[in-house]
Amino acid sequence: MSGNRTFTMIKPHAVLANQIGAITQMIEAGGFRIVAMKKTKLSASQAGKFYEVHKERPFYGELCEMMSDGPIIPMVLEKDNAVEDFRALIGSTDPAQAADGTIRKAFALSKSENAIHGSDSDENAAIESAFFFAVTDQY
Ligand code: GTP
Ligand code: MG
Repeated sequence: MSGNRTFTMIKPHAVLANQIGAITQMIEAGGFRIVAMKKTKLSASQAGKFYEVHKERPFYGELCEMMSDGPIIPMVLEKDNAVEDFRALIGSTDPAQAADGTIRKAFALSKSENAIHGSDSDENAAIESAFFFAVTDQY
């Protein structure tokens, strides 16, 4: 059975565009409870560590630069079937292919600056949550 938690981050361009409120409103309206949330900033090396799974991909350098370019909002979210349902709420990686009503359709600027991250498995959701939050930070 799939788990009830996932991990997300609002990406720097969306934070700098004052879209935190609009995006968290869509997250809550989508039935997710925000379990943990903070504003922080990744160094280039922290971004490199977070996205280590992508280190062989051609866009890895650009991705790490973009993610360390400004503040981010990491969050742990709770809902039944959280990982899959949240991927549906954020939409396709490329905003040109994101469905109407998704967060990326509304706020992504490009395939790189696509507003928000969503974990792709229960296992990665747990690893990514632990990158930013202690278990005791979660309510
Ligand atoms: P995340 O939820 O952020 O993990 O996105 P995703 O699962 O939809 O995509 P993926 O894990 O394949 O890629 C991780 C991130 O790398 C994306 O969200 C983009 O920010 C960036 N990215 C993906 N593909 C490209 C690309 O072709 N070019 C560039 N510049 N960035 C990309
Ligand atoms: Mg991904």
